[in-house]
Amino acid sequence: TLNNSTNIFWQECPVGKVERQKLLNQKGCVVWITGLSGSGKSTLACSLSRELHSKGKLSYILDGDNLRHGLNKDLGFKAEDRAENIRRVGEVAKLFSDAGLICIASLISPYRKDRDACRAMLSDASFIEARLVFMNMPLELCESRDAKGLYKLARAGKIKGFTGIDDPYERPLNCEIEIEQKDGVCPKPAALAGQVVSYLEEKGFLQ
Ligand code: PPS
Repeated sequence: TLNNSTNIFWQECPVGKVERQKLLNQKGCVVWITGLSGSGKSTLACSLSRELHSKGKLSYILDGDNLRHGLNKDLGFKAEDRAENIRRVGEVAKLFSDAGLICIASLISPYRKDRDACRAMLSDASFIEARLVFMNMPLELCESRDAKGLYKLARAGKIKGFTGIDDPYERPLNCEIEIEQKDGVCPKPAALAGQVVSYLEEKGFLQ
């Protein structure tokens, strides 16, 4: 990766991740939720955070839409901007995970190469583990919900490059959890959160 700085050093502090995890009685990790706008990413993220909180586990949500109000307010939706968006959120997720938190990142993250780079970056730091949750909801369903009215604007050509309409969404090939409709019915957010919590429990993140 590009590093424009010279004469920089890595500073270690003796209070490390292991100590923080002991304090929190959990293991830091990243749950990365990907999917179309309106597929239920944010709803799952909130429900998961609520469920973890009720179990006494500390989590923090990094929501794409929210971060674009601050940290990422200089970025748009061109492919290279989305790539930078994912990279930055990946780096922040790595910090939260290192802090010992269960970091829930919820972004469309439409390009496979950006998600893969992010996964590689997170597991690069060997002690951090990333889990990918794919909200596999049909475009028709997301569009029919259209909570923000953005699909309507995209169809009318008033938003250009809208994911799923005139911009790509590349489905994951390697997700840990895939969430789908069953018999045309979307599972309830609490049930989905329960599914992710069980997964985290099984993998020993909640101890
Ligand atoms: S990305 O692709 O991961 O960089 O996007 P993300 O940071 O998650 O931001 C997605 C939210 O931005 C709004 N929005 C758009 N989405 C997709 N394409 C275009 N062109 C676009 N313009 C604005 C939209 O509200 C997304 O919110 P969610 O939460 O996904 O519905």
